Amino acid sequence: MRNEMMDQPVIATDVLKFMRMQPLPLSPQLERIEQEATTRRIPIVPRETAVYLYQLVQQRQPQRILEVGTAIGFSAALFVEASQRRAQVTTIDRFPNFYEQAQANWATLGYQREIELLIGDAAEVLPTLTGPYQLIFLDAAKAQYIKFLPEALRLLAPTGTLLIDDVLQGGSVFAADSTIRHRNKGIHRNLNRLFDSVYQDPRLLVSMLPLGDGLLQITWRDSIEAATSQHA
Ligand SMILES: C[S@@+](CC[C@H](N)C(=O)[O-])C[C@H]1O[C@@H](n2cnc3c(N)ncnc32)[C@H](O)[C@@H]1O
Repeated sequence: MRNEMMDQPVIATDVLKFMRMQPLPLSPQLERIEQEATTRRIPIVPRETAVYLYQLVQQRQPQRILEVGTAIGFSAALFVEASQRRAQVTTIDRFPNFYEQAQANWATLGYQREIELLIGDAAEVLPTLTGPYQLIFLDAAKAQYIKFLPEALRLLAPTGTLLIDDVLQGGSVFAADSTIRHRNKGIHRNLNRLFDSVYQDPRLLVSMLPLGDGLLQITWRDSIEAATSQHA
């Protein structure tokens, strides 16, 4: 499984090179999992995104984290380490080839109690969950983010953060539709629909971070009002 956007940085390559060498205080076992994924070209979050996620979790100390897109379990384990094992992580994936490896990796790290894997399509699993989650990380099929959005917002805590990964299509997401390759048109259109939805939603504050292939960060504009309406 390859992510063709992995090698199309949206920032200058020497800046990217620097960001990919940033240190991260991972356990040696998790560092090995990151290296193995990079060697085998399994699409885990790149180092610059991992550093940001680690810092965010360490600072915000979310109690409950929801992830869509487990792959071999790297980012789920990173959340556990960044929270010093205080966070409970629920992660969803639909691709059977990775389940066993993710679970073996968490067993090596001793994180089986901190991470719960839900198997299935997130479009079907998300409606079955109960929030709130203080951090939600969408890192899966990009064309489906627009479908996941209402459920992610339903599950997001009033002071929570929703992160949506890989939204820039190697920087081509704003190009005219006629210039986009046929097989990417669906992704391209749905990412633009996603931007329209979140940037036009008066309840949300949205920030585009040029990490990896673009990380969209969403919070409630008025977290007190969101808390009131969620509990009304
Ligand atoms: C980029 S990888 C996740 C990487 C992982 N978050 C990490 O950084 O270690 C994307 C994963 O999303 C899963 N996926 C894609 N669409 C999905 C969907 N609709 N429901 C559940 N999982 C999905 C794929 O099977 C794949 O394992």
